[in-house]
Amino acid sequence: MNTLSVIGIGRIGLCFALFLERAGYNVIGCDRDRRHVDSINNRTHRSTEPRVIDLLAQSTNFRATSSLTEAAEASHFLFVCVRTESEPDGKYCHSQIESMLGELETLGRHKHTKRLVICCNINPGYSDAVALRLQPLNYSVTYNPEWVRQGSILDNFTNPNTVVIGEPDVSTGDDLSEIYRRACNNTPRIIRTTRLTAEVIKIALNCSLAAKIALANMIGDLAICKDVDPHQVLDAIGSDPRIGAQFFAYGFGYGGPCLPRDTRAFRYCARSCGADAAIIEAVESANREHLDFQVERFCSTHSIDDIVLIDEVSYKPGVDILDDSQQLLFAVKIAQRGYKVKIRSTKQLVDKISRLYGDMFDFDITDASPTIASDGA
Ligand SMILES: NC(=O)c1ccc[n+]([C@@H]2O[C@H](COP(=O)([O-])OP(=O)(O)OC[C@H]3O[C@@H](n4cnc5c(N)ncnc54)[C@H](O)[C@@H]3O)[C@@H](O)[C@H]2O)c1
Repeated sequence: MNTLSVIGIGRIGLCFALFLERAGYNVIGCDRDRRHVDSINNRTHRSTEPRVIDLLAQSTNFRATSSLTEAAEASHFLFVCVRTESEPDGKYCHSQIESMLGELETLGRHKHTKRLVICCNINPGYSDAVALRLQPLNYSVTYNPEWVRQGSILDNFTNPNTVVIGEPDVSTGDDLSEIYRRACNNTPRIIRTTRLTAEVIKIALNCSLAAKIALANMIGDLAICKDVDPHQVLDAIGSDPRIGAQFFAYGFGYGGPCLPRDTRAFRYCARSCGADAAIIEAVESANREHLDFQVERFCSTHSIDDIVLIDEVSYKPGVDILDDSQQLLFAVKIAQRGYKVKIRSTKQLVDKISRLYGDMFDFDITDASPTIASDGA
């Protein structure tokens, strides 16, 4: 049986490893966090992501290790899913990839080519630089971005619309396409291109989603100002197939760990290559202004003596993530206006919010763990 290695088995990498194992591959997950590795191997790992616990319990050909040497030696394909944070200027920070590459370099030159597949969000141009650096050690480098959404990661892996492969050569692209054909439940469109093109596709696609959400909210705000139903207006526009209904509803602005970071990365990338990012800058400012609009509207329709109960503070329903959550920012702004705000959430999120905002809120702790998320990035 073919062995595949996944380096970095956090939120995304673990799901990717389970997706590959379910397709019949022998999978080694490598992570530098030994406690996490143990919790995977003794199957005590806990996750709110749907299907992860079940697939982990059922998996017979998946194990974790903290040894990169072991993962690299066992497999020709090394999928990299370590974390890439945003830096203050918007660019992606590659420090976790860099530290992993440093470790790979200590292993020396391989007799047979190893195929390193970078799945992380990165700055366009980075995977070409990695390819140049690792060529003397007999690695080929592919860029193969993930198109998954929190709350439905495994479903998104098994039923993708599109797979984008930024391939170093035809044979690697053929083999990777075959892995996806075998592992996916559907027949996705497989787009094979250069690494750099794949990198640009990745950040530009998420920027397009952010733009669509911001546009829908801007139209909705206008509808409200004109005293008409924003949902009816957007439903009518979204029913035109040239626009489409997905990501085109009225509600909170976009947030979470992906779209805001990709708009920032796009802006950084545009600035660094002399291109224009005016529309993306406008999208970011429209997203902020939409939140202000929601706050003003709330304050103009509610008495300061009203007690505000907020049920959903994660960035979208069904997940436990606060990154750039517009729902949480709304709660903060309302509280800063003098409203008494009570947040109903799980203990884990309440602890996080208390660390961030002290005693700004009252809390109502629920046991309910997040359920399957609705559509959203
Ligand atoms: N979270 C999302 O919604 C999402 C969606 C699409 C793409 N992505 C991208 O996927 C990538 C992974 O994100 P994530 O949310 O799974 O991150 P994460 O922090 O949950 O997981 C990263 C894992 O990598 C491990 N790691 C770090 N350095 C390592 C090393 N040198 N060797 C071995 N293991 C190492 C960490 O211990 C951690 O378990 C990022 O580039 C992210 O931008 C994330």
